Amino acid sequence: MGRVVELNHPLVAHHLATLRRKDTPPHVFRDAIQRLTLLLAYEATADLPVRPLAVETPLARAACNVVDGRIGLVPILRAGLGMCEAVQRLIPEAEVWHLGFYRDEDTLQPVEYYQKFSEHPPARAFVLDPMLATGGSACEGVELVKRWGVQTISMLCVIAAPEGVEKVRAGHPDVDIFACAIDDHLNEDAYIVPGLGDAGDRIFNTL
Ligand code: PRP
Ligand code: URA
Repeated sequence: MGRVVELNHPLVAHHLATLRRKDTPPHVFRDAIQRLTLLLAYEATADLPVRPLAVETPLARAACNVVDGRIGLVPILRAGLGMCEAVQRLIPEAEVWHLGFYRDEDTLQPVEYYQKFSEHPPARAFVLDPMLATGGSACEGVELVKRWGVQTISMLCVIAAPEGVEKVRAGHPDVDIFACAIDDHLNEDAYIVPGLGDAGDRIFNTL
């Protein structure tokens, strides 16, 4: 069974407060998303495989380790883009493969509008989306990444609803879920409460 990891850290709490505040301006909101994503990615990458590499320091030869294997980042457009650069800073060689979904506000079902995958999937992928609400977009995204052929998949989100976590666990029990916070519930419009509102609109200033 995949793990559900909710980060418990003073810095996560601090930056979440900025993110949740309704009058946080878009540039500060984007910075907070990136800081939280760095903390998420640190946790979510703890089991990455490494291979040994000997390097010469100014003093001697040192036995080092470097990350082994191809790693794919799969941001779910639009809001997932806000997380991508932070993970790329930690894993500069990571490949970025985009998936476009929007949530139909009447049916609440994810509607796919963009997919950019290569013929050869990486061994490992991190699906990025700040909001895991009903879980529809995440489940569909993970499903496409699995069909592409990726063996090991983790879902990174900033705020999750319990309903979304349960849906991903039921549909994809092998997938690890990392969240900065698992909130209380979804409201009647399937927005996360207390949440932060619409992540894509707040990142891209399209409210
Ligand atoms: C948001 C969010 C997720 C989805 C979560 O995207 O970024 O992709 O909703 O909802 P779900 O768990 O119920 O599927 P949105 O549809 O607002 O698109 P956007 O990122 O382009 O703003
Ligand atoms: N998408 C968002 O951006 N926010 C929510 O609370 C739910 C879905």
